Amino acid sequence: MTIDLAAFPHDFLWGTATSAYQIEGAVAEDGRSPSIWDTYAHTPGKVDHGDHGDVACDHYHRWREDIALMKELGTNAYRLSVAWPRVVPGGDGPVNAKGLDFYDALIDALLQAGITPSVTLYHWDLPQVLQDRGGWPERDTAYHLAAYAAAVAERLGDRVKHWTTLNEPLCSAWIGHLEGRMAPGLTDLTAAVRASYHLLLGHGLATQAVRAAVPDAEVGIVNNLSDVVPASERPEDVAAARRMDGHSNRWWLDPVHGRGFPEDMREVYGVELPERAGDLETMAQPLDWLGLNYYFPSAVADDPTGPAPYAHAVRRLGVPRTGMDWEVEAAGIERLLLRLTHDYGARRLYVTENGSAYPDVVRPDGTVDDPERKRYLEDHLAACASAVRKGVPLAGYFAWSLLDNFEWAYGYDKRFGLVHVDYRTQRRTVKGSGRHYAEIIRGHRARARRAA
Ligand code: FCB
Repeated sequence: MTIDLAAFPHDFLWGTATSAYQIEGAVAEDGRSPSIWDTYAHTPGKVDHGDHGDVACDHYHRWREDIALMKELGTNAYRLSVAWPRVVPGGDGPVNAKGLDFYDALIDALLQAGITPSVTLYHWDLPQVLQDRGGWPERDTAYHLAAYAAAVAERLGDRVKHWTTLNEPLCSAWIGHLEGRMAPGLTDLTAAVRASYHLLLGHGLATQAVRAAVPDAEVGIVNNLSDVVPASERPEDVAAARRMDGHSNRWWLDPVHGRGFPEDMREVYGVELPERAGDLETMAQPLDWLGLNYYFPSAVADDPTGPAPYAHAVRRLGVPRTGMDWEVEAAGIERLLLRLTHDYGARRLYVTENGSAYPDVVRPDGTVDDPERKRYLEDHLAACASAVRKGVPLAGYFAWSLLDNFEWAYGYDKRFGLVHVDYRTQRRTVKGSGRHYAEIIRGHRARARRAA
């Protein structure tokens, strides 16, 4: 498939994305305190092979080299996350200037390299001390997020304009508190629903805090939405797909768009929300943009005995899959972009993550050939271009990920990078897909120049 590059605006952001715990390492340096992911990863049996983020890609020390890689790829944007436990090691209270120094230097170097930084405040690394006080099921955590957000925005906001409050709150709430497959590893529906509520409240409060510190900030939220279809025409499966859509999509989108929490899902969960007057208004701060993380579509069947929403994805035969066992279907990204545009009136969108894991190997000649990832990238960018032709206001695309990194409960086995990392030596090697991304970007730039 070829990409209709002319569809993308001239000032399109071509980026890569990472997150703090997945790449930084240096978990005990310069005053950083443990996060819930340190605790979870060091709990036996939670992460494949007992992997953890203690060293990860050692980005905390190798960030100059990593920025050089971004330049080599020709990207003009980079989505990173700030580690809350570096900046406010106590969870709330005093700010650790040293923790901010790291990001300060990183931002300067990015700007010098002509790369626009896009900063995510919360990519799942809650300070463990706050978990010890109840974590996201507690209302205070939302206020602590906002205080931490203010500290980061005050320090970096003279240079960073592009802010994300939360990355994939669905994973924090549902996978972390209901399914137990991510930190903090709970399986408790009440805790999960309360966590979801306080995450969205925290999003609203953090949005206000960033805007107070940085009047020209452009603030958004990043969701991993599901392109859901019923696994069959059975009415039970059709209803299950509707519940899954509520669970994965509407529960996260409706409140931030001023529509409140979907009634049907309140009934499905049967958990009382910790609502207070004014919260819904706080959650529904006008946003400058929405971020979509997309990886795979889901065919959903009824599952009356499973956890809420009593529905699960089924394995479809004959569908190509990545190394994560995730189905590959590029049309899903287009459908979701169109839905955000039509159903939620989005005025600016970014694909904030999209990518694929495959078991890459470095060949004897030192290169990494990854034709499947190349194809995945190409097909999904083609689907994005097609969405733009249909009127979607897409302003940028961030490939997940710049580097192979710590893939949460899967550890280091799952490689999503455009750049290969040898974890024994920390040697970085640009993969074939990385070179292909660079070519696509060059192609778009050349076109934009000719048109100017
Ligand atoms: C997303 C996460 C990101 C990465 C990719 C593969 O859910 O936001 O950190 O792990 O999946």
